[in-house]
Amino acid sequence: MTIAQHISLRPYNTFGIDVSAYEFAAFTSVDDLKALLANHPRYLIIGGGSNILFTKDFDGIVLKNELKGIQVLREEQDYIYVQAAAGERWHEFVLYCVERNYGGVENLSLIPGCVGAAPMQNIGAYGVELKDTFYTLEALRTDDLSIHTFTGEDCQFGYRESIFKKEYKHQYIILSVTLRLKKQPDFHIEYGAIKAELEKMQVSHLSIGAISQAVINIRNSKLPNPKEIGNAGSFFKNPTICEAHFLFLKNKYPQIAAYDLAHSTYKKIAAGWLIEQCGWKGFRQDNYGVHAKQALVLVNYGGANGEDILNLSRQIIESVHAKFSIQLEAEVNIV
Ligand code: FAD
Ligand code: EPU
Repeated sequence: MTIAQHISLRPYNTFGIDVSAYEFAAFTSVDDLKALLANHPRYLIIGGGSNILFTKDFDGIVLKNELKGIQVLREEQDYIYVQAAAGERWHEFVLYCVERNYGGVENLSLIPGCVGAAPMQNIGAYGVELKDTFYTLEALRTDDLSIHTFTGEDCQFGYRESIFKKEYKHQYIILSVTLRLKKQPDFHIEYGAIKAELEKMQVSHLSIGAISQAVINIRNSKLPNPKEIGNAGSFFKNPTICEAHFLFLKNKYPQIAAYDLAHSTYKKIAAGWLIEQCGWKGFRQDNYGVHAKQALVLVNYGGANGEDILNLSRQIIESVHAKFSIQLEAEVNIV
């Protein structure tokens, strides 16, 4: 295992920010990871670097997760339990499931990054979240290097939330994730543009493969490809507000993009709509800005630094607050 020094992190984050790490190592086994942790108290674990904004050089060791392997653990009449190592790429894992007709993750197609980061923020898209198929995960405790199993309840999943972003922040490294997938898939096509896309594709026989392809098409049409324009997906979370606040805004802005929440009178508001209303959509300053097709995505056109993007995000937060009295919160991890 090689430990490199003074490495540029630009290839390791989808924002394409050029900061450096004092040290860098990629690990392919749990034993290597343990050895690295034992000798390097200041570390940052990364998968695909698709949910990180680097704002400065990292003065410890960056550990790139390359634990690989996908295996079926067991089968029941209706379910199949599939375990993926944390360094597997999420979308490749989705394709593995779609090809075998294991249902439950097809709506989460084309989300960048690795399996190990998926539980961190309970990834979600097109009406489905990781928690819907999650069974267990294994994680390494970074202080005593012991390995623990977490159930869905232990993980305290919420909207873009888990215990690993709160109480257990920096305390565990996720090693593998096991999902409970359906052998007879049920289809989730109620969200947004999926139905329209399936019609456009002239799908006569609904399948998880068709849903996966529809999601891929929709995502390609509005989200920038990080290989072409640096970004980390949605920069902010969609905020929730109370009913009274919502009714006040709805009266003033009848077009407000909002969603009902299950078992709650609160509403979720589309942050992209709020940001667009403040005039930011397509905004460009030098080599960074706000994506022209999706105002929730901040972009690096090449050579921008993380501080500039962070400052832009602060200006957006201020203007959304001034106009709507709504406080946006970053979804991206700022390092
Ligand atoms: P990284 O960015 O490498 O890490 C993210 C965080 O998790 C960091 O704090 C890191 O330290 C920590 N971490 C990483 N691996 C581990 C581990 N094994 N154990 C413990 N901590 C770890 N997200 C969605 O939810 N839905 C979307 O639809 C979506 N669309 C996106 C579209 C684009 C174009 C992009 C660029 C991003 C999108 N994202 C989306 C965000 C991102 O893809 C997800 O959050 C993804 O799960 C991040 O995976 P990663 O491996 O790149 O994580
Ligand atoms: N909208 C605008 N202007 C914009 C963008 C959006 O008005 O510039 C409004 C439109 O009304 C649109 C609505 O917002 O219908 C929702 O937009 P979209 O379907 O693009 O979804 P989103 O709420 O902006 C969320 C997730 C995405 C996920 C999609 C699809 C968050 C923070 N983002 O975006 O996740 O892919 O839904 O489910 O919840 C990510 O987390 O990185 C991410 C990309």
